[in-house]
Amino acid sequence: METDNPIEALEVPENTMIEMIKVSRTYVPDITALSDISLTVDTGEMFFLIGRSGAGKTTLLKLICNMEVPSNGLIEVAGYNINNLKGKRLAHLRQKIGVAYQDFKLLDDRTVAENVAIAMEVSYKNPQAIRQTVRDLLEQLQLTDKHNTITGELSRGEQQRVALARAVANSPRLILVDEPTGNLDANTTERVMNLLNRRNKSGATIVIATHDPTIYQKGNHRILELRDGQIHSLTRSNGS
Ligand SMILES: Nc1ncnc2c1ncn2[C@@H]1O[C@H](COP(=O)(O)OP(=O)(O)OP(=O)(O)O)[C@@H](O)[C@H]1O
Ligand SMILES: [Mg+2]
Repeated sequence: METDNPIEALEVPENTMIEMIKVSRTYVPDITALSDISLTVDTGEMFFLIGRSGAGKTTLLKLICNMEVPSNGLIEVAGYNINNLKGKRLAHLRQKIGVAYQDFKLLDDRTVAENVAIAMEVSYKNPQAIRQTVRDLLEQLQLTDKHNTITGELSRGEQQRVALARAVANSPRLILVDEPTGNLDANTTERVMNLLNRRNKSGATIVIATHDPTIYQKGNHRILELRDGQIHSLTRSNGS
C-alpha cells in the first residue's frame, strides 16, 4: 500500500510491517550477499535472523532501513515501497525506524547521553523529556554511571548497549538490531532482551540478527535462517 500521508501510514500500520519480494543484493564484481529473498514480518512481531557469518543477515537489515538498496526485488516497509521513497518521506520513515548497527556507528567523541539523545533531538522532543528518557534507558541497561563518558572510551559491550539505547530512544515502530548481545555476559544479555521484549509488548516490531541461541530459543518467535544469501529455513521457537 502506498499513501501520500507518511504520518498516517506509520501511526496506523497495516498488519504487515515488512514485505520483501524476490529481493537480491549483489556487490561488484561477483558477490551475491542475498538472493531471491521473499519474506513478510507482521506488525508487532519479534522476528529473528540467524545464519553463519557472511550469510547475509546484516545486508538484509540494511536493505530494510534503506542503508543499502536492493539489486533486484521489491521492499515495502510500513506500507511504503522504499525502492522509490525519496526526500522528506524517506527521512520521515527513517525517523520511525530505530537501528542498532553491528558496528554501533556511535559518535565516538560525544558522551553516552548525547549519543542516546540524538534521535529525539532530531524529532524536536522537549529537552526535559529527552533527559528523562536518556536516564531511564541508561538505568535499564546498567549504564547510569557512564552518562557523561565519551563513548570512544567505553568497552565494546558498553558501546553495544549505547547503540541499543539510541535505537529505541525515540520509541520507533520498527526496531532493527544487529547482534545486540555479542559482547555481553548472561546477565546483561537478559537486561537487553527484557528491554526489547517490553518494547515488543508495547507494539514495536523488532527484527534481531544474532548468533546467540540463548536469545532466539526463548519465547515463541519466528526464526529465519539464512545460508549463503538464501533462505535456508523459517521455523518457530517454542521455548519458555
Ligand atoms: N559493502 C560490501 N561490499 C562487498 N561485499 C559485501 C559488502 N557487504 C557485505 N558483503 C558481503 O556480503 C555477504 C553477506 O554479508 P553480511 O554482512 O550481510 O553477513 P552477516 O550474516 O551479517 O555476517 P556476520 O554474522 O559476520 O555479521 C558476505 O560475503 C560479505 O562479505
Ligand atoms: Mg552481520
